[in-house]
Amino acid sequence: MTLRADLQRVESFLPCATPDQWLEAALSPEREVLLLTDHANCEKKAASTALSLMHRYANHLPLLNKMSRLAREELRHFEQVLDMLAKRGLEYQPLSASRYAQGLHAGVRKSEPGRLVDVLIVGALIEARSCERFARLAPELDPALGVFYSKLLKSEARHFTDYLKLAEYYCDATEMSRRLDHFKALEASLIEGVDEEFRFHSGPLAELH
Ligand SMILES: [Fe+2]
Ligand SMILES: [Fe+2]
Repeated sequence: MTLRADLQRVESFLPCATPDQWLEAALSPEREVLLLTDHANCEKKAASTALSLMHRYANHLPLLNKMSRLAREELRHFEQVLDMLAKRGLEYQPLSASRYAQGLHAGVRKSEPGRLVDVLIVGALIEARSCERFARLAPELDPALGVFYSKLLKSEARHFTDYLKLAEYYCDATEMSRRLDHFKALEASLIEGVDEEFRFHSGPLAELH
């Protein structure tokens, strides 16, 4: 599948486009360290989520296969972002998590098997949003970072598909459609709602209003 086809699939899945105001904030030079540091954290968190799914659902073979590969890829991305920070003379520092992932996880059902389906749908949304943001950022960045982000776009589009297919595998079509509606509405509110702090998945910043 071409990059363009991947992107079209992701964009038609997402409930809204990234606001221009987020892109503007992301491209301001003083936020480069924040963008890359939070991006590194997202990759690390993505690997950790995949591993925790493997522990919690140890007898779910389709999930084990996909998540094992995904965790390895996300750790590799983490190392690549750290390398990008080092090459730019920027320091990787601890950063608080954004409200985005926490906000999505707040909508997850507490009991099984609903919990698993919801966590997989949240995973699909996070991967799709990351993919969309890489595509928005890539043409605007300097060539080294732009090329890197274009490459990541391809993997994140595949991760999006993996999560979505796994969610479909563990529930019926009616439940899937109902839960997708629920999480897409939640995702749109987090992406379009004003945020206090700039992060890779934040909404428009309060300070720029
Ligand atoms: Fe990644
Ligand atoms: Fe990913």
